[in-house]
Amino acid sequence: MEPEEKKKKPRISSKKKVISITNLNTNTIQISNPILIELADFATKQKVEIYLVGGSVRDMLLNRPTTDFDFTVVGDSIAFAKQLAKKFKSNAVVYEKFRTAMIPYKNYKLEFVGTRKEVYEEDSRNPIVTEGTLEDDIRRRDFTINAMAVALNGDSVGKIIDLFGGMNDLKLKILRTPLDPMITFSDDPLRMLRAARFASQLNFNIDEICLEAIKQMADRIKIISQERITDEFLKILKSEKPSIGLLILHNTGLLKYIFPELEELAGIEYQFENGEKIGHKDIFLHTLKVLDNVASKTDNVWLRFAALTHDIAKPRTKKFVKGTGWTFWGHEELGAKMMKKIFHRMRLPLDNLNYVETIIRLHQRPMVLVGSEVTDSALRRLAFQAGETLEDLFTLCRSDITTNNPKLSKKYLENYDRVAEKILQVQEKDKLREFQSPVRGEEIMAICNLSPSRAVGYIKKAIEEAILDGVIANDYDEAKKYLLENKDKWLKEIEENKI
Ligand code: CTP
Repeated sequence: MEPEEKKKKPRISSKKKVISITNLNTNTIQISNPILIELADFATKQKVEIYLVGGSVRDMLLNRPTTDFDFTVVGDSIAFAKQLAKKFKSNAVVYEKFRTAMIPYKNYKLEFVGTRKEVYEEDSRNPIVTEGTLEDDIRRRDFTINAMAVALNGDSVGKIIDLFGGMNDLKLKILRTPLDPMITFSDDPLRMLRAARFASQLNFNIDEICLEAIKQMADRIKIISQERITDEFLKILKSEKPSIGLLILHNTGLLKYIFPELEELAGIEYQFENGEKIGHKDIFLHTLKVLDNVASKTDNVWLRFAALTHDIAKPRTKKFVKGTGWTFWGHEELGAKMMKKIFHRMRLPLDNLNYVETIIRLHQRPMVLVGSEVTDSALRRLAFQAGETLEDLFTLCRSDITTNNPKLSKKYLENYDRVAEKILQVQEKDKLREFQSPVRGEEIMAICNLSPSRAVGYIKKAIEEAILDGVIANDYDEAKKYLLENKDKWLKEIEENKI
């Protein structure tokens, strides 16, 4: 129902608290935001009937900060937006196709649309739009809590128009559709995902009838563009307790369409050995715990994503070994390898791929290094491979401890503390964080008479490996000496192996 352009919202800083409004036992909102006051005065003078609608009303009532305001104008919204833009000394960006206009003003985004009726055809996301009343505009919205309007004209300024019981649902913390959910979700199946998203963001419940409708028509999510799906999915991940939204996706059957690899994690398989029934843990539920743990420590959505996917390859590497039990050998490497396809399919920003892959690939390693006999070179190697992700990797490892036994949990945490401490010591010893071959590519090329090629990387890596293994120190002179001593051997290897 909205243009794609609308999706690109500016980031809202949670520190920018714009509005402080009201409690939920009222039918008027005190408008205190200067921009809204100015806009209301202007509209009143121009005799243009205008309402604040949708999510901004919900957020005002919930006292959530917002910089996006949506307005419904009875009449020509574009003409009004253009006049207002002049007054605000800004520009109205007009989307003729959708008959909407947007004014960027200070750090706000003001969106204007005329009251309209939208009718959707089967299997199409393109509504037929005709002029309508305010009620038509409101009834076509997704949830009752998003379907309230606030009048901005004359004596009515601040009056809440709540035709579908949105205020009551805010109080009850429930998501309900204004119309029969089958209709509301058919109009735009993305709303099924939005239900999970709002439930997760606001910690609300979804009405039973809505849940049933989602279960029945979950497969209709297939007609929605991946960008819109991913947008909602990431909002779930960014919420305070993402497991709320993810469990809804799983329980309603949406998850298998939008993230089938995660759906594969759910459930427990059993094997019998010596008459004993042996199961493994439900990897999906474990993952959700790890994810919530990470979410309680950081807003970094890519670390949250890594937490969500750290065991993604467990179902594909799962094997029952007699005498050992369930094993998942190699799941971290395979999991890292699965990410590329998932990032592409979900249209996730590829500059975060390497970060997520690295964390998944290494998430078992700190545990392996717990023993007292661990060598400096093993610690160095982990620090080198983790690079910038090292601290985040440890955050994930600590969050991966989901035992209910407090003694065990304490012990595991202390183990990680010890490994982290040892790594710090090694790092301090040889400033490994900035580590790379002290002899740089250009010098290697000059000494070995090479042009830029993979051969240069081969030699650089050989020098780095020697440092990591403690053969030479992380020092320019030693590295150069080592290069001069070994270059003929390496050049021969390069030639023989056609590197
Ligand atoms: N809306 C809808 N169906 C959709 C998307 C939006 O009915 N699929 C309506 C809702 O009334 C919503 C308003 O359009 O409140 C604005 O949409 P949007 O900006 O996407 O969501 P918000 O509710 O404002 O929430 P957020 O800003 O967190 O995305």
